[in-house]
Amino acid sequence: MEIAMQPSANAPQSKPSAGVLFVGIDLGTSHTAIAASNGNRLAIDSIVAYPRDVISQKALGKDKLFGAEAWKQKHACDVYRPMQKGQVNYAELDGALNRDAARQQAAVRDLLQHAVSLAKPRPDDLIYGVVGAPAQASIHSQKALIEAARGILDCVMICSEPFAVAYGLQFLTDTLVIDIGAGTTDLCRMHGSLPAPDDQVTCSAAGDAVDRKLFELLKAAIPQATFTVNMIKQIKEKFAALAGFDEPIRVTLPVRGVPTEFDITAQVREAVESIVPEIVDNLHNLVAGYDPEFQAAMRNNVLVAGGGSQIVGLDKAIERKLNQLGGGRVARVQEPAFAGANGALQLAQDMPAEFWAQLDG
Ligand SMILES: Nc1ncnc2c1ncn2[C@@H]1O[C@H](COP(=O)(O)OP(=O)(O)OP(=O)(O)O)[C@@H](O)[C@H]1O
Ligand SMILES: [Mg+2]
Repeated sequence: MEIAMQPSANAPQSKPSAGVLFVGIDLGTSHTAIAASNGNRLAIDSIVAYPRDVISQKALGKDKLFGAEAWKQKHACDVYRPMQKGQVNYAELDGALNRDAARQQAAVRDLLQHAVSLAKPRPDDLIYGVVGAPAQASIHSQKALIEAARGILDCVMICSEPFAVAYGLQFLTDTLVIDIGAGTTDLCRMHGSLPAPDDQVTCSAAGDAVDRKLFELLKAAIPQATFTVNMIKQIKEKFAALAGFDEPIRVTLPVRGVPTEFDITAQVREAVESIVPEIVDNLHNLVAGYDPEFQAAMRNNVLVAGGGSQIVGLDKAIERKLNQLGGGRVARVQEPAFAGANGALQLAQDMPAEFWAQLDG
């Protein structure tokens, strides 16, 4: 399915050069980042919360909360992680999340609006926004994103997230981008032009999968301890590594209310390792299906991005696996939190009028 930009049926006549704010938005499952042409750049957790009743609304003094603040108030609010993919069912594991579909769509819109407000547009600015979506987002989810942007952006362009990452870093030829997010890992081949459907693969070997695996492993290993998936995610972000464990990973978890220390080194390693084979398989298939003359160049130009790229040693682990399949070199992007938003902003500034879709009202 084609997600890369095509000329749009309702493009504006021309692209204004003044009175316009360009924004690049990475609307992720786990975090949302925005980079704007006025220099503003912010990231928040992709969480929206609505006070549950008049009492909590009065106590909190607002009717919507976002990011870390939203999660803090989870007991008084309905909480949404609105970009969560269908197959990732946190609700089963963490009762705090609400998954009502209509409210979830409203939460996408609220999150987008909040992100744009963080970029501080001037009241009379036209806002041109490029929104990054997973490489193989369905037409349906692209349409839903465009609908969510109505009334928030004046013109919109949806682009594949790994393409935005590569574009921002000017890695446009013979490069393979692996964007390891929360819900999905998106792999995308770059060959100097817009990627086609067969240049992209999406799989679920990503951050949420590590969290779920670690949650299950710890439930089995230390059934007496109580913890939530969110606690596990924080532990992972603090300790996750595939190499260089200098010290054992010790965490404190409650056992019937009593803080108790556990060594979870083996479980963390197993959970992180569990996502490597699927990523490497997909990487291998994309390289193998590429023009044989340039396969070597692509193998040596693998770029790992996304929050998951911060797992210590993951790049090297992918490289080691790749070595068993003919070799290659893997690099990590410098700013995983902003690489997608920066690239989307760059695209917003570069793409001519015919690629934009105008949103009325
Ligand atoms: N230091 C870290 N070590 C390991 N994992 C991390 C670290 N920091 C963030 N992560 C994980 O990275 C994932 C989020 O990555 P990212 O912010 O790129 O995702 P996203 O763009 O919101 O999600 P998606 O692309 O799936 O929609 C989460 O699973 C998070 O726990
Ligand atoms: Mg992402």
